Formats: sequence, structure tokens, C-alpha cells
Amino acid sequence: MDLSKEICRLKKEKNCVILSHFYQTADIQNIADFVGDSLQLSQLAAETKADIILFCGVNFMAETAKILSPDKKVLLPEPEAGCSLADSCNVEDLKMFLKNYPDYTVVSYVNTSVGVKAMTDICCTSSNAVKIIESLPEKEKIVFLPDRNLGSYIKAITKRDDMVVWDGACHVHEEFSVEKIIELKNEYPAAKVLAHPECKKTVLILADKIGSTAALLEFSRKDECEQFIVATESGILHQMQLVSPQKTFIPAPPIDSTCGCNDCKYMKMITLEKIYNTLKNESPEVIIDIELIEKAKKSILKMLEMSK
Ligand code: 13P
Ligand code: SF4
Repeated sequence: MDLSKEICRLKKEKNCVILSHFYQTADIQNIADFVGDSLQLSQLAAETKADIILFCGVNFMAETAKILSPDKKVLLPEPEAGCSLADSCNVEDLKMFLKNYPDYTVVSYVNTSVGVKAMTDICCTSSNAVKIIESLPEKEKIVFLPDRNLGSYIKAITKRDDMVVWDGACHVHEEFSVEKIIELKNEYPAAKVLAHPECKKTVLILADKIGSTAALLEFSRKDECEQFIVATESGILHQMQLVSPQKTFIPAPPIDSTCGCNDCKYMKMITLEKIYNTLKNESPEVIIDIELIEKAKKSILKMLEMSK
């Protein structure tokens, strides 16, 4: 059976839209209706007229789609597709933590569970985090969570002294090797370094462009440079190469070259076969308690409103 063909047939028959994050494998990106970063995908999930949203990404992304479109059926082909960053901040620990900061505004990266979003004042993604922090009054005290690297990066740019950053990190972006990136820069002196803000500061210092997956893709398309060293998850290289076939994209190596760390192990749990079965059976479905949806929704809607 040609799985891609069957998926395309079924999605038309069922009026289903397939949304894929840039970190999915090439075969999945190729059958998706839309491929994007986490902000773009949440905007699409909020606007779609489809009856079913099949999300090729990780749990928090599918949850965000369900929160924004609670009347639609949202399918996630692998419910175990979590996120090490989202896992680094749980509701109980956050409750304890916030006791120390009662009058602080809580700004959460979307890489969080629905429970954490329900405790959040405003969400952000890597593409709008600076804008969202800058929109808050200068004197406002802020708790930013859960990514320490993105948090420190935004804190430095926005010069917010009253910003407390949660100590979480992503297993992919923490692992890029500064030494190996410098070696690559010596080997390809004309190459520019592209880095996601979840990378450590020591990697970000080497970057010519820091941005969300969509921002890095756009930079690689527009810039006259022909070679790029890419410090984010490997899936983005497929779109970069599709958009700029004449350019060279070199994945930044992780510290341990045997660990396959520039693959997100959660993103890579989704396969064409699982997508086919999910679409056929309309399961597994993302189910969230409606009260929790209402609590979590406000922080995401605020973000979407500010991103227009
Ligand atoms: P983007 O918001 O840039 O798509 O990133 C999501 C993510 O999970 C990064 O690891
Ligand atoms: Fe989460 Fe990191 Fe995977 Fe992004 S790459 S989904 S932050 S574990």
C-alpha cells in the first residue's frame, strides 16, 4: 500500500487538515497541508474549517490545537510524543515556585502542559517572545518559563532586571557542541550559523541569526550566503533544502556524535504508518477537560491577539 496516497485520500474523505511541525521527517512534511513553526500551527488550528485536525508534532502542540478548536476532533498519532522542555516544569513544582513570586506576571513558552498554561498569564513562542515581553509595562515583574536558554536570551535583549527564569531545557538544543561548530566554521569559512534560541548562550554567541524555526528558514531563503550551519533540530533541513536547493545546509553536531541528539526523539515518534492508522480509526484523539481548556485558553488567545 502507498501510505502517502492513502493518507491523502482519507484526509479528503474525512475533511481533515494535516498540520506538521518543521521537525517532522521529510515524508511527513511532504503529505501535510501545512508545515510551520509552533506559532504558525496554532494560528492555523484556530482558523481551520476542517472537521478534524491531525497534528504531526508533539503533545503540547496538539493540546494547543484542541484548546483553540475545542469543537473539532484533534488527533495525535503518538500520545507518547512529549517534550523534554515541557516535562521540565510540572504543575505541582510551579505552584510551589510561584508562592515566592505572588505579584509576578507568568509568561510561558507554549512548550508547556495544558495545566501549566492554565496557570499562565500570557503564552509566547520563540517567534514572538521578545515582542510579548516588550509589550508588558517596564516595571512589571515577570516569571518566564520553562526554558532557561530562551529566557536568558530574552532577558538580555529586553533588559528586564525583574525577570525570573525557570531552570528548564530541551534535550536537543542543550547538546550542540561549541567546539564542533567552531571546527565547522573553520572548514566552511563563508558559512553562516543559524541557531534556535533554545540553544545555550555559548552557541548563540556564534550565531549570525537567532530565531524560531520559521525565522531561520526565512533567513536562509533571503540571505545571499550559500552555506549554513544549522543549530536546531534536523527536520528543518528538509524545508531549507526545498526552499533553497542550490544552498548547502550543514547540521550542527551534538557533543556526543553517537547520540543522534539533533533529532528530537519525541517528534520522531510520528511515522507515516501511525498517521495512516490514526486517520483511519480517528484515534488517538486529544481529550482535555473543558474547564481546563477554558482556563488555559486565555493565555494562548492573548498571545495570538498580540501576534496579529
Ligand atoms: P518553534 O516555535 O521555533 O517552532 O520551536 C518549537 C520547538 O519545539 C523548538 O524546539
Ligand atoms: Fe520539545 Fe526540544 Fe523536541 Fe522542541 S526539540 S519539541 S523543545 S524536546
